[in-house]
Amino acid sequence: MDNNFDLIVIGSGPGGYVCAIRAAQLGLKTACVESSETLGGTCLNVGCIPSKSLLNSSEMFHKAQKEFNNLGIEASNVKLNLTKMMNNKKKSVLTLTKGIEFLFKKNKVTHIKGKGEILNKGIVSVVNSKQEKINYKTKNIVISTGSIPLSLPGVKIDEKIIVSSTGALSFNQPPKDLVVIGGGYIGLELSSVWKRLGSNVTVIEYLDHITPGMDNDVSEEFLKILKKQGINFKLDSKVISIDKKTNKAIIEFKNNKNDLKEKIECEKVLIAVGRKANIGDDIKKLGINLDKKNKIKVTKNFETSLKKIYAIGDVIDKGPMLAHKAEEEGIAVAEIIAGQAGHVNYNVIPAVIYTSPEVAAVGKTENELKKENIKYKIGKFPFMANSRAKVNNETEGFVKIITEEKTDKVLGVSIINAMAGTMIAELSIAMEFGASSEDIARTCHAHPTHSEAVKEAALAVYKRPIHF
Ligand code: NAI
Repeated sequence: MDNNFDLIVIGSGPGGYVCAIRAAQLGLKTACVESSETLGGTCLNVGCIPSKSLLNSSEMFHKAQKEFNNLGIEASNVKLNLTKMMNNKKKSVLTLTKGIEFLFKKNKVTHIKGKGEILNKGIVSVVNSKQEKINYKTKNIVISTGSIPLSLPGVKIDEKIIVSSTGALSFNQPPKDLVVIGGGYIGLELSSVWKRLGSNVTVIEYLDHITPGMDNDVSEEFLKILKKQGINFKLDSKVISIDKKTNKAIIEFKNNKNDLKEKIECEKVLIAVGRKANIGDDIKKLGINLDKKNKIKVTKNFETSLKKIYAIGDVIDKGPMLAHKAEEEGIAVAEIIAGQAGHVNYNVIPAVIYTSPEVAAVGKTENELKKENIKYKIGKFPFMANSRAKVNNETEGFVKIITEEKTDKVLGVSIINAMAGTMIAELSIAMEFGASSEDIARTCHAHPTHSEAVKEAALAVYKRPIHF
């Protein structure tokens, strides 16, 4: 193999593999180093993709059990075959990881298998599965090594009883009782999966609300919806200890307000309290600057404190830890290295929780605008009044559009609805183009669609919705 590259990308998650493909498209001789057997990183192998497979299958199971009958579909004796469900998940993961292999070949990206380490600015050394060490020369390096699950102080994740999302995506039967620590993205998505498949689920959250960072209206409404689905919540609660026994764990926690202590026994505990940057020893040895959270500091061009060594994705000090943010950065840094003007707009990064209903948001929340002393108007429209949502029995949730009072420019949007994750793209585009609520309100939306609720919320900014 030729050992001389224009760019070596370390890590093949959504940031790394997209960066490698874009760089190759731009004519750079590019390689991507990956230590796992398959390409795609956390997102494809043990994150976004397998969780969405289980979210989809478990929702089908739930609907077949609880909702089909009302629609006149008599499916008696609906049973769970978890092995088949997991196999279907594995098949989806395999197809997609193979898809990246194909895209690498198509774009002439060299896939280097093994664990990469930066020796110095121009050399990446890779140890392969036979423990052979090969050095590769390169003009540029992009670090895209992602993130790993955080745990609680003194708590060891064994992926058997105390699990991270990785373990919770592969239980061989629904745990009778599952305790989830953390009411964020992972906690709520996996609570939904296992609740639908039959577990008794309790979420322990440190704050007094779920989905931190999202609009307060969303946190409140979403909490009500999830409680109605039968998920138990212990908010404002700090875990004191997790006592692991042979086949179970006992979790002791106390209420932050009144100091009252409680214990819960369960078969499995999922720790979903966030993730931390995956920083290799080489980064520390080279003295690349890190921030207080141990994330790599980068310039606006994604360059680290060392010239020609760049970093993107979960491992850097910018933006949320989201796959699509990493993809945008991957494209931008490839274009910058190729001498073009790569750019990421951090004000317009959508966030989606793929529960049922889905929750999606883009831009600023009311709280953020208050802190920034920006005057705003709100337009809100409930799905109760949207014809398509009514027909589909998906009437929970709303669209909330926040605009700048003076200019009517859209500053932020939140949606709770079955289609929220897809619908949010319209609002992201609107924000990228600097649209006003008037622009959205004057745009013809097809009838009958969930998206009409977006138009109605835009009309509601000036108190003129038609259907509410
Ligand atoms: P998160 O940051 O979304 O939520 C963590 C939650 O744990 C927060 O609500 C926090 O207040 C709570 N918490 C922290 N320490 C705690 C403690 N000691 N006791 C109780 N609660 C505590 O992190 P999560 O859910 O682990 O996800 C990790 C990353 O993965 C996130 O950055 C997220 O962006 C990403 N992700 C994105 C998904 C998506 O886009 N749909 C799906 C899954 C993960």
